[in-house]
Amino acid sequence: MEERMITLRKISEENFIDAFNLKLAQGQESFVSHPVRSLAQAYVYRNQCQPFGIYDGDTMVGYVMVIYDYDVPEYDIWHMMIDGSKQGRGYGSAALDEVLAYIRTKPFGPSDRVTLTCNTENTRALGLYKRRGFTETGAADEDEIELSLTLQ
Ligand SMILES: CC(C)(COP(=O)(O)OP(=O)(O)OC[C@H]1O[C@@H](n2cnc3c(N)ncnc32)[C@H](O)[C@@H]1OP(=O)(O)O)[C@@H](O)C(=O)NCCC(=O)NCCS
Repeated sequence: MEERMITLRKISEENFIDAFNLKLAQGQESFVSHPVRSLAQAYVYRNQCQPFGIYDGDTMVGYVMVIYDYDVPEYDIWHMMIDGSKQGRGYGSAALDEVLAYIRTKPFGPSDRVTLTCNTENTRALGLYKRRGFTETGAADEDEIELSLTLQ
């Protein structure tokens, strides 16, 4: 699959409408919250999270949020999505690399642990995370399982 040059840009007043306009493919609503809902949560957790647009050049192709859990402590990746019309082009894999590079800068505090949850039926996302070294922790909540990675 072709590797894409992608970047993350913080969600701001310049680009939040583009995030609102991203669309999941049919049937993916059960896998992830839409950016509209995610950004509402980002407001609630605004002292410990950073939502991003995923960009190919100047075009927003997806969305992802990084949130710091002070209690563990660990970094969590929430609501990563690529617009349904642009999936399968390498954007998701490239975006995950950029997210991990951001987390390595420890923007909110110390921790090498990165955790996320994923629907057990979301085989594409599970493969993506496992290929990057995420492993199942054994924790589960209904149809969502937890995966974790320790940054080297
Ligand atoms: C999961 C998601 C972020 C991946 O983004 P993407 O840009 O489509 O993914 P990529 O093109 O980088 O490919 C990632 C993997 O999926 C595979 N893939 C891509 N398109 C595919 C398709 N149509 N069918 C099956 N597998 C596919 C790729 O081969 C790749 O596998 P690999 O990592 O084992 O090599 C994206 O599909 C998405 O937004 N899904 C809906 C929201 C979601 O489920 N988010 C994750 C929440 S945990």
